[in-house]
Amino acid sequence: METKIIKLNASGQEREQGFEKARLILKSDGVVGIPTETVYGLAARFDSEDGVKAIYEAKGRPSDNPLIVHIWPGADLKPLVSYVPPVAEKLMEAFWPGPLTMVFQKNPAVLSSVTGGLNTVAIRMPSHPDTRALLDYLKMPLVAPSANTSGYPSPTLAEHVYRDLNGRIELILDGGACGVGLESTVVDVSSCDEAHSDITILRPGFVTKEMLENVLGVGHVSFDPAVTAQGITDSKIVPKAPGMKYKHYSPRCEVTLMDVGVAGWQRYWLSLSQEEQEKTALMVSSEFKSQLQHLLGQNIKEENFIDLGSSENLAEVAENLFAALRLLDDKGFYKACAEMFDNAGLGTAIMNRLRKASAGRVYEE
Ligand code: TXA
Ligand code: MG
Repeated sequence: METKIIKLNASGQEREQGFEKARLILKSDGVVGIPTETVYGLAARFDSEDGVKAIYEAKGRPSDNPLIVHIWPGADLKPLVSYVPPVAEKLMEAFWPGPLTMVFQKNPAVLSSVTGGLNTVAIRMPSHPDTRALLDYLKMPLVAPSANTSGYPSPTLAEHVYRDLNGRIELILDGGACGVGLESTVVDVSSCDEAHSDITILRPGFVTKEMLENVLGVGHVSFDPAVTAQGITDSKIVPKAPGMKYKHYSPRCEVTLMDVGVAGWQRYWLSLSQEEQEKTALMVSSEFKSQLQHLLGQNIKEENFIDLGSSENLAEVAENLFAALRLLDDKGFYKACAEMFDNAGLGTAIMNRLRKASAGRVYEE
């Protein structure tokens, strides 16, 4: 099967044809690559046992890792969720549509293959205009994990999806580059009720702890211990979001987090042989790149840098991160030294992905 890509920003007719083709594939229990504001998703109908199975097969994903159900403004939550606590209403008001996923007590009718056998279900309302238009066209909730091969960095371009899943899926709808670049923030509201409104972040994302606290108040938002555990290898803590326990976001290139200052980077770089230097990338912010170029002068080449964007604007770093991780492999690097960012605000989500991509490898002096 050759995978077809349909551009959604083309003429009105082509866009409509793309939506209709997607509808037919989904109706016959197939899967479709779709854009969202966070990353590309691999979608199936939420009520299709075969569609859900096809997602797990196409991605090579472990079946105990539950899927997020995507809905549109005005969609009825009742067929999905058994109870909506007041705190969830507040969060919907503040962050939907947008990159926030909430985990609720599920309606028993939701397929257990969607929820990995859990009695909870994750729901999100994407803000990407194409995703909204598609969901509105279908009037059918879609389950969609990120559309990468399981374990590889999430796709932020239709081309990434094509490279991972060509031949395994029929159609990718191309909505351009994903603006957020990191997957949605996942919060658990499943044990909340009238009296309890403290929430837990299961996966950090674009909606930060600080943004959630602005709505709920300081002290009402905490991280699942698995999120704050450093790396994955040294952690005995079982994450509440099953997906967080797997090796993830890892390119073939070996990524190491550099827990040293600029002089430490310089010493490290100069300790490498010329052959090693040729195969090593420096994945850094634009500002840090300038510092390193200044220090290393002729000892460093432009080709060795993978520029993540400005550290003054972490949204830019988030947007570029997954494409940068894929670029390491595309350019044939064996090793990459990655800059570390402050573990606050959006930096928490960036560092979470970087720690996983590096499988806990940290360089210290
Ligand atoms: O931004 C996103 O959320 C993207 C786009 C496509 O919407 N989707 C995405 O899906 O990242 P996925 O499947 O790659 O990640 C879903 C995460 C996993 O860590 C999974 O374990 C967790 O959400 N999750 C899903 N349902 C859950 C549940 N009932 N309880 C706890 N965690 C859940
Ligand atoms: Mg994923």
